[in-house]
Amino acid sequence: MHDRPRRILVTSALPYANGDIHLGHLVEYIQTDIFARFQRLRGHRAIYLCADDTHGTAIMIRARSEGRDERVMIAAMRDAHLADFAGFQIAFDHYGSTDSPANRRLCGEIWATLRERNLVAARDVEQLFDEQAGVFLADRFVKGTCPKCGAGDQYGDSCERCGAAYTPADLVDPVSTLSGTRPTVRSAPHLFVRLEPLHAFLAEWTRSSGAVDGPIANYLAGHFLGEPLRDWDVSRPAPYFGFEIPDAPGHFWYVWFDAPIGYLAATAEWCAAHGESFADWWGRERGQSTAEIHHFIGKDITYFHTLFWPAMLEATGLALPTRVHVHGFLTVNGQKMSKSRGTFLRARTWLDHLDPGMLRYYYAAKLSGGIDDIDLNLDEFATKVNADLVGKVVNLASRTARWLADTGLSARYPDDEGLFARAAADGAEIAEAYEACDTARAMRVIMLAADRANAFVDRTEPWKLAKAGADAAARLQDVATVALNLFRQLTVYLAPVLPRLAEQAGALVGGPIRAWEESQAPLVGLPVATFVALMRRVERQQLDALLAAAADAAPDAPARAIPTTHTGGSTMADPASADASRPPEPPADPGDALAAEPLAPQCTIDDFTKIDLRIARILAAEEVPEAKKLLRLTVSLGGDATRTVFAGIKGFHDPAALVGRLVVVVANLAPRQMKFGLSEGMVAAASGAGAPGIYLLSPDSGALPGMRLR
Ligand code: MSP
Ligand code: ZN
Repeated sequence: MHDRPRRILVTSALPYANGDIHLGHLVEYIQTDIFARFQRLRGHRAIYLCADDTHGTAIMIRARSEGRDERVMIAAMRDAHLADFAGFQIAFDHYGSTDSPANRRLCGEIWATLRERNLVAARDVEQLFDEQAGVFLADRFVKGTCPKCGAGDQYGDSCERCGAAYTPADLVDPVSTLSGTRPTVRSAPHLFVRLEPLHAFLAEWTRSSGAVDGPIANYLAGHFLGEPLRDWDVSRPAPYFGFEIPDAPGHFWYVWFDAPIGYLAATAEWCAAHGESFADWWGRERGQSTAEIHHFIGKDITYFHTLFWPAMLEATGLALPTRVHVHGFLTVNGQKMSKSRGTFLRARTWLDHLDPGMLRYYYAAKLSGGIDDIDLNLDEFATKVNADLVGKVVNLASRTARWLADTGLSARYPDDEGLFARAAADGAEIAEAYEACDTARAMRVIMLAADRANAFVDRTEPWKLAKAGADAAARLQDVATVALNLFRQLTVYLAPVLPRLAEQAGALVGGPIRAWEESQAPLVGLPVATFVALMRRVERQQLDALLAAAADAAPDAPARAIPTTHTGGSTMADPASADASRPPEPPADPGDALAAEPLAPQCTIDDFTKIDLRIARILAAEEVPEAKKLLRLTVSLGGDATRTVFAGIKGFHDPAALVGRLVVVVANLAPRQMKFGLSEGMVAAASGAGAPGIYLLSPDSGALPGMRLR
């Protein structure tokens, strides 16, 4: 029934190895998986490839702050990613790593070709350098005052207040977020890929190849292609976690150079394991690739995939993407996912509380192939999956399958008032919608067919036929045969979205669902297995438990504390400090905390306002050698206002790990002369009978030094 088999290589963007998979990522991996499964169900050859994106400053910094070797950290992260993906039934044909031998080899080959074609240039670049941490600072590791509007605490690339874009060197009073120290400017040679020679190609490809949608082509034309293309900086001086450039010792390829090449490396590894030829997928025959290449990406990484990447492929004579599918971002209850609001939902947290198939269906029902953001509204989620999946699809089987446990399906397909044929005819529209990644439309058409099927069951009332006894037995078998066929037909259409449900439907009747054509002809005369519940309703308390777990979940290890000072290579921090930086398991809430320490006598609001509590940033922290408990802290209350305070937290906090963090200080406490110096305030910390230890307070993100607590 369909055209000749296509060969389709499908990818999702490679997730960074420095964080967990969250529900935002899953918008992408779920839709890509649906596309690949749909193509396979249609009889095409589709391979779905992905990998962890392992290199770069952020990963190096995180590994250091955890006192782990980068390669140990990325191996552990890969295991966690794979477990999360498996939990959501994401079926990769291969999952690689950008830190693989295949990727190193391919980077080298592509680099050699770029050199040969005179597309590599060298030039000195001034970059901010953190002397204490011994690293060049990527934009997100520098903060300072906006050179345009004067807003404080802005990142190195742009101002959140006024929107100005600049380089970190333009910041007034720049501070390294790693050490809290003022970075210096260092000049180092960098290597660039010259893109201007590929300008005409890119202008043509983005406009006419059909690989990107019109609005994206317009965006690229307006923002990049309207003027000469700037050289792309693809090297970083040591220390950097990545591949050293063979002809430039001490310099490493920038993470975004080797990451997309990871698509090629994953293909090469898959080919090696399956006796296939790499050139069959990425080679060009008479200027054309014989396979289709589909990249799925989020809108934030558009220009990497529609400018830099096709430029690399063109320059090296490899196949160009057939299509770059760009999607929008996930919001939760209308807002960006946020740790402080408790809506930062990790894949693992979802798996602990809810059915992954339900999220797959919800996303499918929301995605229509465009770049609009999609919102996860948990109330709407519950209503929708309960109504559609439980109420319409599963219900069809749950209220009819049991009548067929003894007899099996009728030997001839009964009169069903044209319902099966009508839904079979819907197949063309459903397939077209899947092909266009308009799964929202596919789900709508499928649910309309489910409505018609349920109306049939309501009309024919099999439960009454069952009570009527032997006289109605044949009619009952026919009615249930129709209902179960309509159910199985729906699960064929839903199989790309709900592979588990499709498996369960196959186990109930007719065997494994393998092809789209199974939606086109009803089954007869087959046995029907005992019905087992396929999916349960989502209950309010599951959602509450999900949100409570999200609120509790410890945030990612901060990417700011660097325990040791060093300048070369990627030497490790003292592993002994590793455990101190990993958050311990929280104990259960104590039942009688106030009994152990009764409340102080009542005070008035005036009493409270006398105490001026301020947010402060720790600029420096050192042990007071003569004192058993004290650390000497230098804190900033914003601008030049700094204070020295002595805090009794030695032994509970690694001084180096404190630098850069925000705390709460009592800012108007009368200064006190101590043996070791003048203490000009007090850092607020919690302690009590519930657990040993002293716990510093941290504000929500967004708070700035000098803000007052009220
Ligand atoms: N490592 C790069 C991609 C390299 S591809 C050669 C990267 N990694 S990422 O982990 O930050 O994101 C992986 C994919 O998930 C990206 O396509 C990104 O757009 C997508 N998403 C990450 N957060 C998202 C949401 N909150 N919502 C939707 N998609 C999001 O970028
Ligand atoms: Zn500004």
